[in-house]
Amino acid sequence: MACRAGSLRFLIPKFASCVNRVNPCTVPVLIRKTQYRNSASRLRFSSTVPKPKKEMVTVHFIQSDGSKLTTTAAVGENLLDIIIDNDIDIDGFGACEGTLACSTCHLIFKQEDYDKIPEKPTDEELDMLDLAYGLTNTSRLGCQVVITKDMDGLQVQVPTSVVDARDPS
Ligand code: FES
Repeated sequence: MACRAGSLRFLIPKFASCVNRVNPCTVPVLIRKTQYRNSASRLRFSSTVPKPKKEMVTVHFIQSDGSKLTTTAAVGENLLDIIIDNDIDIDGFGACEGTLACSTCHLIFKQEDYDKIPEKPTDEELDMLDLAYGLTNTSRLGCQVVITKDMDGLQVQVPTSVVDARDPS
């Protein structure tokens, strides 16, 4: 059995006898290799690249009874995802899970906030909005509105009722 570590002779008596046969020049090499291995693993763990922080904004949902639900949202999320991710309980909201088939994610914006939405409604969204309860000139479907940085502090009104366009009645 090769004797590997002169430094172990103080810890493990069994190695003490073989330490005498070890070329004294190899012991510093072994120690240096161990130090190198340790510093290399330290480097590996410390070289991880930090994830970029998501930009966050505050969004307020005003319910039909006037109560306000406030949450933070990452830029790039749509309003349906924000409601789902933050467990915001709005009755019947987002029934089709963002597939543009229900209109239950109808939200009403203030004019200045409506004008900040970069994406204009598509024909499919407009068709679905026509079926929404309480349609206004500043209505959008929450599943189609993506949050941008300049929407920080956004307040949206939740309509007093929802209509699920898939409902046959
Ligand atoms: S969640 Fe159904 S249309 Fe938006």
